[in-house]
Amino acid sequence: MPNHRVCFFGGTGFIGHQVLQTFIKTLPTTGHHTVVLVSRHPQIPWLHTLQTQHPSVHLQHVPGDIVQDPSLESLWAKALRAQTWTHLFYSVQFPGHPVEHPEKGWTYENYDYGGLRNVLNVLKPSFSHTSLTQLRASVPLRCVYISGAGAGQNLQKPWFQAKDKAEALLTRFSEDTKGTFLALRPSVVYGAKDRSVNALCSLAEKVHCIPLMGSQDIVLQPLYVEDLAKACVDFGFCHNGAMLNGAFDLPGPENITLKHLIQLRLNVLGIQAKMISLPLPVVKWGSKILKHLPGHLMNPNAVDFLTQQVLMKPPDILLNFIKNCLTPEEGVKQY
Ligand SMILES: NC(=O)c1ccc[n+]([C@@H]2O[C@H](COP(=O)([O-])OP(=O)(O)OC[C@H]3O[C@@H](n4cnc5c(N)ncnc54)[C@H](OP(=O)(O)O)[C@@H]3O)[C@@H](O)[C@H]2O)c1
Repeated sequence: MPNHRVCFFGGTGFIGHQVLQTFIKTLPTTGHHTVVLVSRHPQIPWLHTLQTQHPSVHLQHVPGDIVQDPSLESLWAKALRAQTWTHLFYSVQFPGHPVEHPEKGWTYENYDYGGLRNVLNVLKPSFSHTSLTQLRASVPLRCVYISGAGAGQNLQKPWFQAKDKAEALLTRFSEDTKGTFLALRPSVVYGAKDRSVNALCSLAEKVHCIPLMGSQDIVLQPLYVEDLAKACVDFGFCHNGAMLNGAFDLPGPENITLKHLIQLRLNVLGIQAKMISLPLPVVKWGSKILKHLPGHLMNPNAVDFLTQQVLMKPPDILLNFIKNCLTPEEGVKQY
């Protein structure tokens, strides 16, 4: 296996961190692999431990904000230009998701698409004619991007549009640079560090009650985070599986309601709680008020995001993989 030089954007997040861990474990202990993590934080406390566990990988943290500081002179941009990368991984999300704060620049457009555009813009000059020849002779760039359910269907909400633009950008960039990309589109992803199911279970522990927005029969296709990470590694970084090119829906192995998913996790935690449906018109009305209050906790678009139902058909090429993913009942017992 050739030496990997991988740059992670979002490697400190819920999904990105799991992908990073899974990826590093699959690297052979021989070779000289380099993994760089770009993060807004000045330090990543767990990086040292990870480095000790994987001495054959050179792990490096580069502080940087790829959205608010797209300057070519920023540290992250300089670090990006300093190497010829074999892989890029992008799984970035704005603070406070799913409530956008346009006044702070925290929007789907800026993070799902804009940050990726900034990264690829920094890389573009390295694909000038001369270096393109060099790159062709070595390993072409492979991008792995976490998209989302509903992308690729020309749906009109901002979260779908930003993912569509990002996927189109990746298509163009790969064509222009003779590289390849994989965009995976999961539905809800759950696991030890998710902020959706866990937040509701914490609430249940305190008040023994969970308010659910709208109807309780919205169907999801939840995917356990380690299965998503495995898909990225197998089909994106291509250690065990076949290299896939393009964007692919990645539904979990079962269709279940959010209420059911939460109940499965509550059972594991031994918490009893009542789930109460808040009528959607009331929630929407409330969100219009919250939008104007300090903290901006909710708004109508975020309610739409949280109450949407997007069902995907597993693509033939991923049928076997999805069949072997953990069911929600198995997944919630893993952490
Ligand atoms: N979670 C789900 O259920 C789910 C389902 C489908 C699709 N997705 C997609 O998966 C992606 C990741 O989701 P997640 O749940 O893992 O998000 P997350 O836990 O909030 O992680 C976000 C990551 O983005 C990084 N980041 C944020 N702003 C940045 C900036 N300006 N510059 C550099 N890095 C920045 C953060 O790094 P620092 O904080 O260290 O800077 C962090 O690593 C999103 O695109 C989301 O749409 C998620």
